[in-house]
Amino acid sequence: CGIVAYVGERDAFPLILKGLKRLEYRGYDSSGIALLEEGELNIYKKKGKVADLELQNAGKELKSTIGIGHTRWATHGVPNDVNAHPHYSNDKKLAIIHNGIIENYASIKQNLISKGHVFFSDTDTEVLIHFIEDIQKETGHCLEDAVKLALKEVVGAYAIVIMSVDHPGQLIAARKGSPLVIGVGENEFFFASDATPIIEYTKNVVYLDDYEVALVRDGKLTIQNLDNTETVPYIQKLEMELETIEKGGYDHFMIKEIFEQPRSIADSMRGRLNAAEAQLQLGGLSNYMDKLVAADRIVIVGCGTSWHAGLVAEYLFEELARVNVEVEYASEFRYRNPVIKENDIVIAISQSGETADTLAAIELAKSKGATIFGICNVVGSSIARASHAGAYTHAGPEIGVASTKAFTAQVTVLTLMALAVAKKKGTITDEVFERLLAELDNIPSKVNKVFESATKIKEIAFIFTYAKNFIYLGRGLNFPVALEGALKLKEISYIHAEGYPAAEMKHGPIALIDEDMPVVFLATKDSSYEKIVSNIQEVKARKGRVIAIVTEGDTLIPTMVDFVIEVPDTHEVLTPLLSVIPLQLLSYYIAVMRGRNVDQPRNLAKSVTVE
Ligand code: G6P
Repeated sequence: CGIVAYVGERDAFPLILKGLKRLEYRGYDSSGIALLEEGELNIYKKKGKVADLELQNAGKELKSTIGIGHTRWATHGVPNDVNAHPHYSNDKKLAIIHNGIIENYASIKQNLISKGHVFFSDTDTEVLIHFIEDIQKETGHCLEDAVKLALKEVVGAYAIVIMSVDHPGQLIAARKGSPLVIGVGENEFFFASDATPIIEYTKNVVYLDDYEVALVRDGKLTIQNLDNTETVPYIQKLEMELETIEKGGYDHFMIKEIFEQPRSIADSMRGRLNAAEAQLQLGGLSNYMDKLVAADRIVIVGCGTSWHAGLVAEYLFEELARVNVEVEYASEFRYRNPVIKENDIVIAISQSGETADTLAAIELAKSKGATIFGICNVVGSSIARASHAGAYTHAGPEIGVASTKAFTAQVTVLTLMALAVAKKKGTITDEVFERLLAELDNIPSKVNKVFESATKIKEIAFIFTYAKNFIYLGRGLNFPVALEGALKLKEISYIHAEGYPAAEMKHGPIALIDEDMPVVFLATKDSSYEKIVSNIQEVKARKGRVIAIVTEGDTLIPTMVDFVIEVPDTHEVLTPLLSVIPLQLLSYYIAVMRGRNVDQPRNLAKSVTVE
C-alpha cells in the first residue's frame, strides 16, 4: 500500500491525488482521500485505480489544506469501496491511513464490539482507529498519547497517518516496519511511503524510524518515541530528480526502465570501478571487507527478481571467489531454524529495501550473530538501514512493477563484490581480474547493441502474442536468467511460463513440448554451449518452437531453431547482464500486444511490505 498526507497552505486533494498516482506501484486495487472541509471529516474512496477516484470526484469543489490518502493492496478484506482507506472512528472524528498489517486485530475488535463499536469494513485498519478512539475516551489522554498507547498494544507492522476533526492543522504519523518519509517545506509538511510524492515540493526530508511518532502541530514537527522521549528531526537532502520518476515520452515506465539500463548499469559502477587503472572499490563495504574475505559461507536472501539476482551471485561468488554460497527465499528462510554461525555473511538483496520477508530474514540472521550486507536500490530504505554494511545499486527509481533495471544493477554490484573478494583472496589472477573490469566497463555499450534487435523481438512477440504457455531454459549463469525471463512474462502478460535448468527439462517439462510450445533457450557461447545445443535438438525433435538467445556471429544454432536474437560476446560470468535484456523486451512487447496494464499488472505490488 502507499500513503500520502499533507498539511499546509496548498489545495490538499489534487496534491494527494497526484502523490497517490506516484505510489500506485505499491498497490492499486482501491484508493481514497480524507479531507477536513469546514470542520467536517469527509472521505472519498473508490475501488479501482487512483484514476477512478479522480473521475468519481471530478468537478467537485473540494477545498481543504489538510488531508490523508491511500492506495491499497488488499490484505484483509476484498478490494471494494468499503474496505478502501481512509477509515474512521466510531464518532467519525478521527481518520486513518495505514500500510502494513495489525496481526492481533481480531482480539482487539472483539473487545471493541463488546463495548458497542460498530465496524463497516473487514480491515485491521478500521480496528486500529477505533482502538485509539477507545483509549482516548477511556483514559482521557490527548490524541498523540492515545496513539502511542494503542501502538504499544499492537502486534504487526504499520505506517500510519491520523487526522482529527478536533485538531484541524494537526497530523500524527507513526511507523514500525513500513516506510514513512516526511517532507519538510515552508509552512507545510508531507507524509508519504516514499519520497516520490514529495520531491516536486521540497528536497528536505526526514525518514521516520521504527517506534517513532511524528506530530505536526501549529506548523511545527516534533518526533517522539512510544515512551515520549523526544528526538531532533534529522533533515536529509533528497538526491532524486523529478525527471527520474516521470515517463519522459515513453508509453510505459517499464520500457523506459529497460532502455535506461546502459545508464543505470554504468551508475551502479560509478566511483567503484576504474577499469583503466584496474581499480575496484566498494566504499560501503570497506570496513567489513576482511570479514567477507574470511567468511566460510555466504547466505543470500531475497524475493522475486532479487532472488534471481542472488542465484546469479551464487555462481559468481563460487566461480570467482571460491566461497560456499546458499541462496534462500527470504520467506522460507525466516520460518525455518536456519543454522547460522557468527562468521557467516548474509547478503540481503532488495530493490525497494522494504520487502517484509527479506527484512524479517535479516533480523533473524542478525539475532544469530551474522553480519548483514544490504544490496538495495532505495536509499534510506528499511533493509539498507537494518544492514551492517552494504552497497546501493543506484539504478534510480524503478516504477514499473516488473523489475528490470534494478535486476541488472543488482547483478552488476554483486559482480563487483565477488571480484573484490576474489582479488583479495587471490582466487583469480590479476590478468582475469583486469580483463573482467575492462569487460564490465564495456557492458553498457553492449546493452545498447542488444537494443538493435528490438524490432526483431517485437516481431517475435507478435507471432507468440496468444501463446498459452512458454518454457525458458538455460544452464549455469543463464539458468537464473531463464527463471527471470519466465517471471517477467508471467507478471505482465499473464501467460503461464516456466523457467528450468535446460538439462532438467528431460525429467518432466519435456512432456509439455509439442508444436504449440514456444521454448526460449539461453544459448550464448559459454562453457555449456555444446550441452545446450543438444538440449535444443531434444526440443526440436519434439516439434517445439525455439527462440534462441545466441552470441553474435553464432552460425550453428540459427540453422537449428525458429528464431534467433543475438547478444554481443562477453566474458562468461557477465553473460546474464546481456542475455536478460531480450527477455525483458519480449515480455514487454507481448504484454503490450495483449493489451495488459504493463506497469501495474493485476494482483501484484512493487513493494510487498506484508508477509
Ligand atoms: C515484488 C515485486 C517484484 C520484486 C519482489 C521483491 O513481488 O513485484 O518485482 O522482485 O517484490 O522486491 P524487492 O524490492 O525486495 O526487490
